[in-house]
Amino acid sequence: MFACCASMATNSAAPVVGPIPFLDTEKDAHGHRQVSELPSKLLAGIQQISLRRYQGFWLPESWVPAAVSIQHRFKPRPDDVIISSLPKCGTTWLVALAFATMARHAYPPSAADHPLLCLNPHQCIAFLEGVFLGGPAREERLEALPSPRLVNTHMPHALLPQSLVDCGSRVVYICREPKDMVVSMWHYLRTVHPELSLQDTLDSVCDGASRCGPFWDHALGYWRASTASPDSRVLFLRYEELLRDPASNVKRLAQFVGQPFSPAEEEAGVLADVVRLCSLDNLRSLDVNKTGIVGPLLKTPRKALFRKGVAGDWVNHMTPEMARRMDDVVADKLGHTGLDFQ
Ligand code: A3P
Repeated sequence: MFACCASMATNSAAPVVGPIPFLDTEKDAHGHRQVSELPSKLLAGIQQISLRRYQGFWLPESWVPAAVSIQHRFKPRPDDVIISSLPKCGTTWLVALAFATMARHAYPPSAADHPLLCLNPHQCIAFLEGVFLGGPAREERLEALPSPRLVNTHMPHALLPQSLVDCGSRVVYICREPKDMVVSMWHYLRTVHPELSLQDTLDSVCDGASRCGPFWDHALGYWRASTASPDSRVLFLRYEELLRDPASNVKRLAQFVGQPFSPAEEEAGVLADVVRLCSLDNLRSLDVNKTGIVGPLLKTPRKALFRKGVAGDWVNHMTPEMARRMDDVVADKLGHTGLDFQ
């Protein structure tokens, strides 16, 4: 399944004669070639982060085994809800909103002991890459979760297991205007890589070699899945729309996951409570979100997840040339697709 080096190609009809490269014998349980054989790149400006190109996408090297395991071992259920995004597009907010919405009967959003008041949103959801890197015990915990399960991933649509599409799991994707995504990513990564420049961050994204990039193929995969049919199981959200009108979009989300807000709930202010609970001001004011790190895979401080939370912050950081470069990439890669970031 992995791309294979030309030097390692063998004619399957002829008997294999030694010596052969020892690396060529390195295969996983499914007979696939190993991560070390995939094309690699360092994330621009950060020498410590190595990316590998797996099935057309640049994944952090350590995530590739997780991607393979998700494809082979994740057992999706028809009532699973999968939150998907590229990093820095509003994942944390959407995770919080989805959890608060779907768990609202067990945990009323106005309750003083709501889980989101003492847990970071990412502690309320199973991160698929983390689960499948975490060993059998974590996979068992995922299996043991009661339905409906809420999980999240940064995997591109094309890398999700076909069984997930076939069984009808619902996917909620959030995208964001790419210049704002770049600025957000730069601020975030700088918390652990202070040497990183905005120019390097922009270059990696525009070259397609950023985490789970190319970003245009990532967004387009979900966009096409969401527009493929009127009863698509993919809901495509935009961070900017969520900012403009959180309540309407939470209503859409609730409807999509099969748990619409009743008129009585709206009357009682439950929808407004969900929006308030998950607001940036509320989440960032909580002790749990002021301390600690995001998790074992991402050692960034939790407080870096909650920064400015606005649309258009790129104007405060990018030169006109930088902005034009990104706009040109978007026009070139997405101009003909119907996907825009207005
Ligand atoms: P900025 O860096 O532009 O402020 P992710 O969760 O995918 O990493 O995305 C992080 C971005 O979402 C950050 O953007 C962050 O401030 C913003 N964000 C986090 N929580 C939010 C919330 N409750 N409401 C609005 N934006 C939020």
